[in-house]
Amino acid sequence: MPFGVYVHIPFCARRCDYCAFATWTDRAPLMGPYLDALRVDIRRAVERGQLPPATSVFVGGGTPSLVPAAALVSVLAEIPTAPGAEVTVECNPDTVDRALLDTYVAGGVDRISLGVQSMVPEVLSALGRSHDPDAVHRAVDAARSAGVRSFNLDLIYGGAGETLADWERTLDAAVALDPPHVSAYALTVEPGTPLAADEARHPDDDDQADKYLLAEERLSGAGLANYEISNWARAGHRCRHNELYWQQGDYLGFGCAAHSHRAGRRWWNLRTPERYIDAVLADRSTEAAAEELGTDRRRLEGLQLALRTSRGVPVDALDPADLDLLDGLVVADGGRLRLTVGGRLLANEVAVRLR
Ligand SMILES: C[S@@+](CC[C@H](N)C(=O)[O-])C[C@H]1O[C@@H](n2cnc3c(N)ncnc32)[C@H](O)[C@@H]1O
Ligand code: SF4
Repeated sequence: MPFGVYVHIPFCARRCDYCAFATWTDRAPLMGPYLDALRVDIRRAVERGQLPPATSVFVGGGTPSLVPAAALVSVLAEIPTAPGAEVTVECNPDTVDRALLDTYVAGGVDRISLGVQSMVPEVLSALGRSHDPDAVHRAVDAARSAGVRSFNLDLIYGGAGETLADWERTLDAAVALDPPHVSAYALTVEPGTPLAADEARHPDDDDQADKYLLAEERLSGAGLANYEISNWARAGHRCRHNELYWQQGDYLGFGCAAHSHRAGRRWWNLRTPERYIDAVLADRSTEAAAEELGTDRRRLEGLQLALRTSRGVPVDALDPADLDLLDGLVVADGGRLRLTVGGRLLANEVAVRLR
């Protein structure tokens, strides 16, 4: 059975004003104590028999590549892994070099996810990113020469001032790097962020739809197959960790704000690094809250997640009357329904018609 481990690293050099993730820019002195707490927390879970060998590990953030590589790898060393496990670390391009990646690879990391976002300097500045496209080239070269098995490029479309031609430049430059995996996300306005407060910079739905269609055209044209609404990969390079989430698999999250799921019970950890460290030091639970998914909700969520992937859902998951209304948005094939490209743009509309 697949089993995932997520490790959250809540530190960034600066905060992007569209980001609502649990991350801080003024907590560098906490890095050491935080990584110590992660090691203790994971070791206890192993000792208590709560941590079967992971088939995938995902270190996300924040900016995991901001903490010293040897210290990050020493946290990974505490996690039991199954043979052939996928081990991903999220990296910001300007924090990656060959020495860091050599340490990662020696520590079992076989995949990195690079937060590229755009390959157009003006768009990167408008997004408040600190790197330039050259940093992306250097990071990809370093990943290849260090022998990292696979890598992902994270892209964002729909930021203020980004033209369709800018997005095309980003896609073409990304494809020219011959990536095994690309994630392309529509910029989302997250409540409470500076972006949310500035309506003039809010993305436009039609513009984002055009950009999504261009992404599908360029990425699939380059041999990257779409396997979830926002994810494209070459054969053998899908992100197994995300596939586990989409298949409602079991995973344990370590670190502040990390989420976990086991057999229909979902819970999430204390949000700040300080409270997480305190709880671990006192051997108290790091859990902030939990919810139990009933059988019906679990089944419906499973269908909604599957519909977003190229696996699709059984034909009888949709009311035959609704099927007529969804003409052009879904196609039936081999007893399963899958979203068409147009349907992917309206996935939420289709999801509410599942039963
Ligand atoms: C939370 S970040 C962590 C990785 C790294 N710090 C970075 O920013 O590249 C993971 C990804 O989430 C995406 N992301 C964050 N905030 C977003 C938003 N408001 N809308 C769309 N995508 C977002 C970005 O593509 C980013 O690469
Ligand atoms: S670098 Fe990544 S995690 Fe950090 S603030 Fe920006 S988007 Fe959020």
